[in-house]
Amino acid sequence: MTAHLFAGYDFAYTWPWTYGHLIVALALAGAGRLGRNKLGRWISLALYGAAAWAFAGFLIVQLVFGYNSPQRMPTDRFMLGARGEVLDIGCGSGRTTIMVGLARPWVRIAALDNFSAQYIRNNGEDLLRQNLRVAGIEDGRVRVLRADMRHIPAKDGEFDGVVSSYAIDHLNRKGIEQTLAEVARVLKPEGEFLLMVISSDAWLKVVYGPMLMHMRGVWPDYWQGSLEKVRLRVVEQGRTPGSAYFLCRKLP
Ligand SMILES: C[S@@+](CC[C@H](N)C(=O)[O-])C[C@H]1O[C@@H](n2cnc3c(N)ncnc32)[C@H](O)[C@@H]1O
Repeated sequence: MTAHLFAGYDFAYTWPWTYGHLIVALALAGAGRLGRNKLGRWISLALYGAAAWAFAGFLIVQLVFGYNSPQRMPTDRFMLGARGEVLDIGCGSGRTTIMVGLARPWVRIAALDNFSAQYIRNNGEDLLRQNLRVAGIEDGRVRVLRADMRHIPAKDGEFDGVVSSYAIDHLNRKGIEQTLAEVARVLKPEGEFLLMVISSDAWLKVVYGPMLMHMRGVWPDYWQGSLEKVRLRVVEQGRTPGSAYFLCRKLP
């Protein structure tokens, strides 16, 4: 789980995402200790309890979610026998591009992003290429498309597969509908789409608590319905910590 610390990857998620919980935990524990005499025993204990919760969040972010590790393939079935080119939508600094590149060395990849995320330091093609080199994926296997996922610059049926993790769920409802329609358009008939979205479970509740409730990603039924609406048939559905995945096949 900690292999990434030695692998040399830098997926560049900013400190609030990677170390924010640790800072909150230290601040709460410090307040609990300092306030023992002034605030009273119970308030001090409550502060220690909140510090322990924040520290648990830090451990989950580091060891379970692994924001500085390549993604793990949630299903063995995606692009198992298929060749050709896979489009990675919202590739960012490359965690999903590397997941596909290493697990399916026979495919080429088009990595698409508008590189707009402020929470990834120096989000852009250079950062992505740097991580691909660390993974040992040759430059020639990956082309970069700087574009908006709601208007994918590709021909109908251009890609054999499409993958996207924790990117489409960052859009508003209209943006999600536009992007899923674009996925269905650029995918070949019978082509596969692997969608990974944030989804509420015990792990996520410990880490982000009540901040979650406004997110569309917490309702798997919403995704199932939206995928079927654009004729992407869900052939496998499952969960990983803090996340849901949908493996789809485009109906001919
Ligand atoms: C949370 S990051 C996920 C990156 C990567 N897939 C991962 O799992 O680490 C979301 C990515 O979506 C990109 N993004 C957000 N809105 C976009 C849009 N309208 N078009 C293209 N990319 C977008 C951001 O720039 C960011 O790199």
